[in-house]
Amino acid sequence: MAVASRLDTGRAFAKVLLPTVAKGVIVRRRGVTAVAEKVQADAAAVATMRRFRARYGPEPLRLRVTGRSVALLLDPVDVARLLADSPSPFALATREKKAALAHFQPHGVLISTGEERARRRAVNEDVLRPDKIDVPGIVADEADLLLRHVRSTGRLTWDAFAQAWWRAARRIVLGSFAREDVELTDVLKTLRGNANWAYLHPRRDALRERFEERLHAHLARQEPGSLASLGSPDELQGQAPHWLFAFDAAGIVTMRALAIGGEGEAGIWESARLWPTTPVILRESTEPTRWHGTWLPAGTTFVVFAPYFHRDPDRLSYADSYAPENWPAPSDPGLVPFSGGPGICPGRDLVLVAGSTMLDALRDHLAVPTLRAPLPATLNHFGLSFVTRGDG
Ligand code: HEM
Repeated sequence: MAVASRLDTGRAFAKVLLPTVAKGVIVRRRGVTAVAEKVQADAAAVATMRRFRARYGPEPLRLRVTGRSVALLLDPVDVARLLADSPSPFALATREKKAALAHFQPHGVLISTGEERARRRAVNEDVLRPDKIDVPGIVADEADLLLRHVRSTGRLTWDAFAQAWWRAARRIVLGSFAREDVELTDVLKTLRGNANWAYLHPRRDALRERFEERLHAHLARQEPGSLASLGSPDELQGQAPHWLFAFDAAGIVTMRALAIGGEGEAGIWESARLWPTTPVILRESTEPTRWHGTWLPAGTTFVVFAPYFHRDPDRLSYADSYAPENWPAPSDPGLVPFSGGPGICPGRDLVLVAGSTMLDALRDHLAVPTLRAPLPATLNHFGLSFVTRGDG
């Protein structure tokens, strides 16, 4: 199996991994995201990955990292295997994720293992079902109010969109009583900001406790029509922080779908393919595993850099275009905006329903699309803004 030269290991960090970390894995940083768009950081990252594949072949590429075994996947078939064989022998709970998520969701399924993981996964699959509550109704309501604002200002900005989106998210997860609890999601954002720094940042347990108390008060109401009504408050308490946090990505994907003229659920899928909000999918092996005849030790970190698999022009004729016909069942196993296998995002249906309802409610009233092929590799959602259509 190929081992990257020292220079190429340096390139993997400088061009692929560190720029992704800098943008903020857990919560996006505004300034860095704007700079990343200016320099089109993802274009350089994808080009670097393509050179690795041309130089070293399709097998996982081992990086030279002292004291660690790290392998960068370069082939879609290997991506499919890694995700299919999760959580064992390829655990979702990697040391990076544990360090980052302990800041605000220490009991979340993503960093759980063994039987505890199985139990928590089942809770997520059970509750995160858009057919159990009226998600379209809630989102349509908030879209209506947002449209009133948009008509009066003549423009939809990210900040206006985000306010409406978070109202919808709080209503879906916790009920209408939580609709105006901006502080809840703001405190979560602060905790998430710390999570960006993973083990480098001290944990703020007092703030986390404040967040948890507030969250528990909402869950305890079990308001009919919300996800909170679908499980016991104690059971949901450990999982709901992830749900709230993950609605951020769903909003980002929805706003970007507007920019490309996306429609319906395929519009949401495509937006998530073109600009994956989970750009790095990590797994850590719990035992030695064999790849193309070579054994990699237990504890190897496997890295799937999604923008490469989603935007590789060597494999995908539509790499930089809007290609809704890919979905819902893409033929290429490297298209994994919601991950895949047993660890696939259990919230994806909820995202597709909520996102497409918002998208379809807004698109007819706005002058979209604002972007056409070739679509940019990096897109700063904070900077997106749409004017109303003359007849909207
Ligand atoms: C555009 C929006 C979203 C995208 C692109 C997305 C994508 C993903 C991906 C790629 C993973 C796998 C992470 C990994 O393997 O480390 C994941 C996991 C997860 N997602 Fe989402 N997600 C989104 C929104 C949501 C929402 C709104 C919820 C809940 C309401 C949610 C709930 C979860 C949960 C609970 C997990 C952990 C699953 C596990 O450990 O088995 N996601 N998501």
